[in-house]
Amino acid sequence: MITDFAGNCSCKPCYIIKTGRSRDKVFYLLLPQMLNFQLLKSFIQHRLQANTRHGVHSPFVYKLVDEVIYDYSPRTDYQEIEALRKQLLTDARTVTITDLGAGSHINNNKQKQVKQLARNALKPAKLAQLIYRLANERKPKNIIELGTCLGLTTAYLAKAAPAAKVLSIEGCPETAAVAQENLQQLGASKVEIRTGNFDHILPEVIASADSLDVVFVDGNHRKEATLNYFDWCLPKVHEDSLLIFDDIYWSKGMEEAWNTIKAHPRVTVTVDLFWIGLVYFRKGQVKQDFKIRY
Ligand SMILES: C[S@@+](CC[C@H](N)C(=O)[O-])C[C@H]1O[C@@H](n2cnc3c(N)ncnc32)[C@H](O)[C@@H]1O
Repeated sequence: MITDFAGNCSCKPCYIIKTGRSRDKVFYLLLPQMLNFQLLKSFIQHRLQANTRHGVHSPFVYKLVDEVIYDYSPRTDYQEIEALRKQLLTDARTVTITDLGAGSHINNNKQKQVKQLARNALKPAKLAQLIYRLANERKPKNIIELGTCLGLTTAYLAKAAPAAKVLSIEGCPETAAVAQENLQQLGASKVEIRTGNFDHILPEVIASADSLDVVFVDGNHRKEATLNYFDWCLPKVHEDSLLIFDDIYWSKGMEEAWNTIKAHPRVTVTVDLFWIGLVYFRKGQVKQDFKIRY
C-alpha cells in the first residue's frame, strides 16, 4: 500500500495542455466538470502576455531563456528516466492514498495504482527536463525537492548535478519506497529521501544546511504553505540560489502566493513560465519579473 500526499497539480487536463496533444486537449476542454476554469483563464492570459526570448532585454534572462529554457536537445539522462516512466505507466500495483497536500483536481480516491500516479501526479517529460536544465545551470552543491512521489523529477535533479547533495521530502513512506527503488534503478541511489510532512521536515533540513542552492517545491499547493516554504528558505538563500515553485496558477491562492513572492524585496528576478515560477536573488540587478512562453 502506498500513501500519497499528492499535491496533484499535474491534473489530466493540465497535463494534456502541457504535452500539447491537441485532440485530447479539445476533448478535455469539453469536459467542464474536469476543468479548473481559473487555471484555463490564467493560461490564456499568460499566453497573451508572455514573451519568447525576443522580448527580453535582461542579458541574464535572455541567456537563460536562449541557452537553458529553450534548449530542447536530447540527452542520454532524459532517455533513461523516460524509459523508467514508461515502465511505471504500466505498473498495476495498487496504492493507498493519504493526502496531506492540496489534493488533486481530478481524482481524490484513496486507492490508486502506480500507473495512475505516473500518469497524473508527475511532471511531464518536457517540464521535468526543463527542471533538469535549470538545476544544471546553477551548478548547485545541494538540491532540496519537496514532493518526491515516484522519484522522477528527483532523478532528473540528481542527474543534473551528479556532485550535489540531493534531498527529497515525501509524505508517504510507501510512495517514497517506490521512489527509492526507481532511483536505485537509475543509479541515483545517493539521493536522500526523507519521509514526513514538509511542514515538519523542511525547517529541520534548512536549519542544518549552510546554504540553499536549488529548491524545487512540488507539493502542497496551498497559498499559506507555499509562502511558509518560501519564508523558511530565505535565511539560507544566496546570490546564486534558485527557488522553483510548481503550479503557480493552480488556484487563486497559488496565484496570490506567487505575487507575494515576486514582490518580496530580496527577490530580484522572477521568471513565470506558467507551469512553474523561477525565483532568483542576484545582486546588482534591477528588480524585474518576466513572463516567458514555454
Ligand atoms: C506532484 S507530486 C510530486 C511529483 C514529482 N516531483 C515528479 O514530478 O516526479 C507531489 C508529492 O508531494 C507529496 N506531498 C504533498 N503535500 C505534502 C506534504 N505536506 N508533506 C509531504 N509530502 C507532501 C505528495 O505525497 C506527492 O507525492
